[in-house]
Amino acid sequence: MKVENVLIVGGSGFLGRHLAAELARRALRVTIPTRRRERAKHLIVLPTVDVVEADVNAPGVLERLAKGRDAVINLVGILHGNFERAHVELPRAIVAACRAGGVPRLLHVSALGAGPDAPSEYLRSKARGEEVVLGAAALDVTVFRPSVVFGPEDRFLNTFASLARYLPVLALACAQARFQPVYVGDVARAMAQALEKPEAHGKRYELCGPREYTLKALVEYACAATGRHRLVLGLPPSLSYLQARLLEWSPGPLMTRDNYRSMQVPNVCAQDCTLPFGLVPTALEAVAPAYLQ
Ligand SMILES: NC(=O)c1ccc[n+]([C@@H]2O[C@H](COP(=O)([O-])OP(=O)(O)OC[C@H]3O[C@@H](n4cnc5c(N)ncnc54)[C@H](OP(=O)(O)O)[C@@H]3O)[C@@H](O)[C@H]2O)c1
Repeated sequence: MKVENVLIVGGSGFLGRHLAAELARRALRVTIPTRRRERAKHLIVLPTVDVVEADVNAPGVLERLAKGRDAVINLVGILHGNFERAHVELPRAIVAACRAGGVPRLLHVSALGAGPDAPSEYLRSKARGEEVVLGAAALDVTVFRPSVVFGPEDRFLNTFASLARYLPVLALACAQARFQPVYVGDVARAMAQALEKPEAHGKRYELCGPREYTLKALVEYACAATGRHRLVLGLPPSLSYLQARLLEWSPGPLMTRDNYRSMQVPNVCAQDCTLPFGLVPTALEAVAPAYLQ
């Protein structure tokens, strides 16, 4: 079936911006609900994209928005807060809305490392969400599990680049944590292609970039790319945990104890696996300098 009309739940954020642009380039009609229209201003200029102010958690809203779509895409994810609600209950409601509205196709973004026995509630709740969507009857589902995603508006490299403006030394928790960052444009392309591919039904795809880095190497890279060569000091585990605990009290925390636990498992793909459908992953070094500067 040709997909022409898509609803992106959670599409007002970082990945949504790039996925909406990718789908608009392919002339798909896209609807994106947001709880604050102000947050999605950047999407309004895209020719086939419609932004609507709506809270998808309110009764009946998802059913109304999903009805008659060719596909629904779920990008909702949080790093702190009510994980059960955002990562499990909302996907369950999305599945129900798809079934009620005759939607045949669902793409769902989870996270690399999600698993029932993972050390953090973020990763365990993402795993429960995957089970909810993949267990749905009469719905063709594809799950994506990206490593950390980089790109112009990311909150990862950009955050460290900003910190380096003010701090002469960066005291870094979990400095040896391993990541295989994937470019946001590659994630968007993989998802757009999956919409048309029957072989993607019922599959989970890990999404990674071409190289693995420690967190310390990534922070040093972000500093150097902005012309600020800062001393990056890796904290031992006890101080890393303490830093997470202290930061947890700040508004919109940079880190929490749950994030600390997530970083105890390597965020890297299985060997020789980066992107599906023959896509070639973009190197961090090819893209990041332009936006970090
Ligand atoms: N960015 C990464 O490095 C990364 C890595 C691995 C996995 N992922 C996953 O990829 C997906 C997209 O990530 P992102 O970086 O684009 O996230 P983002 O920029 O934070 O955007 C998330 C979106 O989810 C919506 N949202 C958040 N909490 C919600 C709630 N309780 N109810 C309804 N909507 C809610 C927000 O919509 P409003 O406009 O309504 O606020 C926002 O548009 C997430 O599932 C994330 O877990 C991201």
